[in-house]
Amino acid sequence: MLQDSFATRLVAWQKQHGRHDLPWQVRDPYRVWLSEIMLQQTQVTAVLEYYARFLQRFPDVAALAAASVDEVLALWSGLGYYSRARNLHKAALMVMEEFGGQFPAQREALQRLPGVGRSTAAAIASFAFAQRETILDGNVKRVLTRCFGIAGFPGEKAVEKQLWALAEALLPADGSQMTAYTQGLMDLGATVCGRKPACTVCPMVDGCVAAQQGRTHELPTPRPKKAVPTRHTVMLLAQHGERIWLERRPPSGIWGGLLSLPEFADSMALERWLECMGQGDVLPSWPELEHVFTHYRLIITPVPARLDTLAATGVQESAGQWIPLQQALEAGLPAPVKRLLQRLLA
Ligand code: ADE
Repeated sequence: MLQDSFATRLVAWQKQHGRHDLPWQVRDPYRVWLSEIMLQQTQVTAVLEYYARFLQRFPDVAALAAASVDEVLALWSGLGYYSRARNLHKAALMVMEEFGGQFPAQREALQRLPGVGRSTAAAIASFAFAQRETILDGNVKRVLTRCFGIAGFPGEKAVEKQLWALAEALLPADGSQMTAYTQGLMDLGATVCGRKPACTVCPMVDGCVAAQQGRTHELPTPRPKKAVPTRHTVMLLAQHGERIWLERRPPSGIWGGLLSLPEFADSMALERWLECMGQGDVLPSWPELEHVFTHYRLIITPVPARLDTLAATGVQESAGQWIPLQQALEAGLPAPVKRLLQRLLA
């Protein structure tokens, strides 16, 4: 069973194939902490330069605590997520004032520092103090859900809890292996078990549930799609000779400023409107058309109609215009409206 050999395999693999030349692979908790904060939501390549400059200006936690938050922010400029810089400065003050200038070695104590969550605290505790504490970031969740075939969105409370328990159970018995183990988790997730995993070079492949069952593409389970509300509208395709009635939509909102077909809440409203326009016939509705926006689904009922004579006192001309069908198709139109006009022409 993979659970029994996971740590041994990972440590051996990390020593041979993992990353060994990252500048923060040191025991100094200040340097480890700084790198872990910078590496939250940011790629290694982007961090390297900032990390070096930061250390040059603030070689230790006392120097950082003595600086102004503005100077810290200035050095952080370009890395993004600036609350990290504010928290960094606050945490440096806390280390000076509450921990006597020394980083605590316990994961729970580290977690009290602003900007340090459970996984970051575990990274610092394992790298700097060889504590048997597990990390669980996005990369590790990907590795574990695949290796152990854990379905369900990992952002869900119950799944996350299960993953923390599993990650803890997988820790190597020997604390002296913690640096290689934690780095191995990070390296495997970053270099082998990515979105498109390189299973042929993975040390876990023969025990990996996802690899063995051909499910690497479906694990981890993606975030569930929000149910989007459905709206209905009736669109009128009013033709007078070769021309079609189009209206300009208001400048804001969906399809802002585009020419479009007149819309109605229901067929009764549509018929009242037609009566004002003139004399003619409503034809049978076309099949419904679906258009999906980011926030809702629009179901369109297209209703064609022919106006033989236009009423003198019809709908105000300013509300819309009769446009030759061919010309209308060349204007900027919402995609489903364009489809309807094309169908009308065909
Ligand atoms: N991402 C987060 N922590 C890291 C580390 N110590 N090395 C490489 N990538 C990381």
